[in-house]
Amino acid sequence: MDFETRAARGGRDVPSASRPLTPPIYQTNVYVFEDMDTVESVWEGKTSGFVYGRYGTANHAMLEDLVAGLEGAEAAVACASGMGATTALLLGLFTAGDHIVSARDLYGSTTAFLDDEGRRLGIDTVFVDATDPALLLGALRPNTRAVFVESLSNPLLRMVDLETVAAPLAARGIDLIVDSSLASPAVMRPLEHGATIVMHSLTKFISGHGDVTGGIVLGSKATMDRVRAAMIRSGTNLGPFDAWLATRGARTLSVRVERQSANALALARFLEAHPAVERVYYPGLDSHPQRALAKRQMPGPSGAILSLDLRGGALAVERFMKRSRLMEFAPSFADVATTWTYPARTSHRRLSDETKREIGIGPGLIRVSVGLEKVEDLIGDMKEALA
Ligand SMILES: Cc1ncc(COP(=O)(O)O)c(C=O)c1O
Repeated sequence: MDFETRAARGGRDVPSASRPLTPPIYQTNVYVFEDMDTVESVWEGKTSGFVYGRYGTANHAMLEDLVAGLEGAEAAVACASGMGATTALLLGLFTAGDHIVSARDLYGSTTAFLDDEGRRLGIDTVFVDATDPALLLGALRPNTRAVFVESLSNPLLRMVDLETVAAPLAARGIDLIVDSSLASPAVMRPLEHGATIVMHSLTKFISGHGDVTGGIVLGSKATMDRVRAAMIRSGTNLGPFDAWLATRGARTLSVRVERQSANALALARFLEAHPAVERVYYPGLDSHPQRALAKRQMPGPSGAILSLDLRGGALAVERFMKRSRLMEFAPSFADVATTWTYPARTSHRRLSDETKREIGIGPGLIRVSVGLEKVEDLIGDMKEALA
């Protein structure tokens, strides 16, 4: 073969009698076939195999298999981001004329997406205080197809009594969709409490190292087939390297979250006793208004996220930002490093001051994502920042 051909074709298939312990990254956007029968049977899903990058690679299949195992789901669909997962869900499962009942406490972009794009597609969403099962069930209409809630809400760590609402919803054939990004399957597994669909921003705890943007939807095989078709057609697919990174991150999820939760509980107890702090929101504290529900739905660790109201409002928040050395201001969560954010100016900035007040997001509210540092160092930094 000539030089050009050797460059284009050489080195592709190196034989090996062994296989790598860590799966490789399938950084390819298409697969090669040897005969038409295989093309047909892989395309039709009769033989396991891969076709084209947007449809998924072995890295996607490995990630989906792993996270489905963690959540106890039959099937999963990896997506480009948490919002990509919500997009695939909406496009895959809903039709113009459908109605969704959603929690008022939702990640800001999810609320905006349902309220704006969803409504323009003819899907009507009503937002209610989902901590009250009667209010949630009272909002159902004959055309309600799903209820959409967060397992632990962002940023006030509110919860929905999944078991109480699951049975009446199931009786009416209404899906219970839970965004469990803030909890992670190491803290709560909503399918065990009656949810029918779970989604995650993989960007958060499952990948866990601040280096992936991704999402995943989980549920029954039949439902995930519809979500997968929408993901493929809308192009909300994850890249293979991100799928590989998320898989690697997920392997240490339980030890990370266990340690992060222990740090968060110690920090929450310290903050609760501090005079500069008006209130602490953490489901592991006895002062959490839904503590009994938290114990039932999250019998293990209580998670790595806590929020607090600083006395002194916005001015106190600015001083806190200048004085903290260890805790970085970063508008995300779930990293191994402790970070904090200010919902009034980040995730919930779109909301009017009145709505913010109504849902409890005050000018002194900050959300902390607790990392893996030594807890004494975190408490020391917190003391300094609050002084
Ligand atoms: C609870 C929750 N759901 C979904 C998302 C969206 O995820 P992504 O940023 O990966 O699109 C976020 C992002 O912060 C979130 O906090």
